[in-house]
Amino acid sequence: MKKICLIGGSGVLGKYYAKHLGQKNEVHVADIGLKNQKKSNNFYTYYLDIQNESKIQDFFEKNKKKPFDVLINNAAYTTEMAMKDIKPKDNMDIFSSEIFDKTINVNLRGIFLCCKYFIKFHHKKNIDQRVINIGTIYAIHGPHHDIYKDEKFFSSISYSTSKAGIIGMTKWLASKFAKENTNFNLISPAGVFNNHTNRFVEKYIKLIPKNKMATQKQIYSAIKFLISKDSDYVVGQNLYVDGGFSSW
Ligand SMILES: NC(=O)c1ccc[n+]([C@@H]2O[C@H](COP(=O)([O-])OP(=O)(O)OC[C@H]3O[C@@H](n4cnc5c(N)ncnc54)[C@H](O)[C@@H]3O)[C@@H](O)[C@H]2O)c1
Repeated sequence: MKKICLIGGSGVLGKYYAKHLGQKNEVHVADIGLKNQKKSNNFYTYYLDIQNESKIQDFFEKNKKKPFDVLINNAAYTTEMAMKDIKPKDNMDIFSSEIFDKTINVNLRGIFLCCKYFIKFHHKKNIDQRVINIGTIYAIHGPHHDIYKDEKFFSSISYSTSKAGIIGMTKWLASKFAKENTNFNLISPAGVFNNHTNRFVEKYIKLIPKNKMATQKQIYSAIKFLISKDSDYVVGQNLYVDGGFSSW
């Protein structure tokens, strides 16, 4: 049984990961959408805003008695969240500096801080530890903007920028800590189906060699691999789970 810390565990994918990881592990799930609660002897939730450094420090410090074996940085201020904050709502202000700052604060600085305090309070050279950061295909590849035309959502410049930063950060940490038994890797998923309209799905899957959107299970399978013994020589990788999107 591993002790796993999942940051960003109350959203669409996070809930799925939390539920499945919780079946065989001790899981600590932190998110702005959760309360401090012991749900069972091996499942704990916490309110945590990863924009707040001192709270992140407290969270990792309070849990340090038995170190985390795994840290999964899944939290993100997504374009969907940004759209709720953009005012006026009918103006998709793609160059909003406010949204840019918040996106970088959560998606890049927040993940940096979680890695920082994981290393400070949990990193132990004598145990096999894993850190998985979650990126996106839109970190390396620009979105096909046309497919978002006429949709109520889009993919923001801030989101891509923040997720691109995580790639460099993951590789830096990977080469720094590999010798000390902590493997850092990144998963870059393509769009996961979540009740999108048929119109959007049709446009999107034309860009995917598999001709399908991803499922939650397919992304979770990559997480399972990266926390397993089978991946102990996999270090600093950006693992695309994208149905071939990046292979055109
Ligand atoms: N769903 C997809 O199609 C897709 C594709 C590529 C990458 N991703 C990535 O997968 C991850 C999960 O995506 P999702 O679709 O489940 O999104 P989601 O919006 O449902 O989940 C994001 C989670 O992050 C949490 N969060 C946001 N700001 C936070 C903060 N300041 N502090 C703590 N927690 C915070 C939210 O409360 C939420 O639980 C994200 O990193 C996202 O970028 C998702």
